[in-house]
Amino acid sequence: PEAITIQELANRMAERAVDVIKLLMKQGQMLKINDVIDADTAELIATEMGHTVKRVSEADVEEGLYAEPDHDDDTTPRPPIVTVMGHVDHGKTSLLDALRHANVVSGEAGGITQHIGAYQVEQNGQKITFIDTPGHAAFTAMRARGAKATDIVILVVAADDGVMPQTIEAISHARAAGVPIIVAINKMDKPSANPDHVRTELLRHEVVVESMGGDTLEVEVSALKGTNLDKLLEAILLQSEVLELKANPDRSAEGIVIEAKLDKGRGPVASVLVQRGTLKVGDIVVAGSEWGRVRAMLNDKGEQVQEAGPSTPVEVLGFQGTPDAGDRVAVVENEARGREITEYRQRVKRETLHKSAAGSRGSLEQMMT
Ligand code: GTP
Ligand code: MG
Repeated sequence: PEAITIQELANRMAERAVDVIKLLMKQGQMLKINDVIDADTAELIATEMGHTVKRVSEADVEEGLYAEPDHDDDTTPRPPIVTVMGHVDHGKTSLLDALRHANVVSGEAGGITQHIGAYQVEQNGQKITFIDTPGHAAFTAMRARGAKATDIVILVVAADDGVMPQTIEAISHARAAGVPIIVAINKMDKPSANPDHVRTELLRHEVVVESMGGDTLEVEVSALKGTNLDKLLEAILLQSEVLELKANPDRSAEGIVIEAKLDKGRGPVASVLVQRGTLKVGDIVVAGSEWGRVRAMLNDKGEQVQEAGPSTPVEVLGFQGTPDAGDRVAVVENEARGREITEYRQRVKRETLHKSAAGSRGSLEQMMT
């Protein structure tokens, strides 16, 4: 059985905490408003005060929150979600910047600096979604939870430096997630560039690129000079064609929080990557232990949008609190459901803390009236 504070129990019953304390006192328990009682005691008190008690389990609360996988018949192609990884200073950020700018009409350049942690570029009329900084908090969280948020990993390896510890780490992350790698051998403009050395080293880590007889796509690039960026985008589109990425846009949205912050003027702001369905202004969403009504959405260019389909990154305004990077996002029927789910999760969070503090244990069974 779980625990609940007297205050919280009173709130849930819409009774005064002092009356709860009095009842407990009659039973020989001298407790204060912030003291914690177990679920059995709470149930007893609630019944005695004339309330019906319903114990709600995790399954009750979470049920149906994340829908079944999309049926093939309902799906349409969606843009690939691409993450750039690699060793420190090998040029990940430079490459992302170069890709972004190469694909933006010059006049627009100022507009796209909007930082939402993810953005889209277009190549031959096809969109590609990039998730910004790979060492991103969201990734650590997502990895820890086994959530899959990327379709393709771009492994950036500097031609003058070769395979380094974080290169190897990135390879194992991609492998663990079952995500294909495209190798971008960067800094080809440098006189000391030695791409063959990179290829041989990759071989030792079982990444066999095409020119070595394998099937891992590879492109020699220079983020600095903007060389072969088109080739890299083509490789991404080629790879995503093989993956046959699809999603159903005609259902309520699910996605993941890439990052979130509390903005002074706008309140909680969450960068959300929509993975399935279409997120709409006015939707009630839950993300981790926070919920909200989508008040406004901004795309990666900072423009207001009314809807965001599969693989689209958007900045979402309207959360009641700030969710965490890596939290799963789902749309629910109404505010009451949003509240129910997040109150439940918040309680679990608190009780987990309380439990580890008190050294006690128990199931996740909850009590509500
Ligand atoms: P971290 O985020 O710190 O891991 O680094 P990063 O991988 O994002 O590398 P970043 O893009 O910050 O580039 C590191 C340095 O390499 C910078 O000084 C860049 O100017 C330089 N650089 C990046 N790409 C190229 C390139 O293609 N050629 C040359 N010559 N220098 C490059
Ligand atoms: Mg960087």
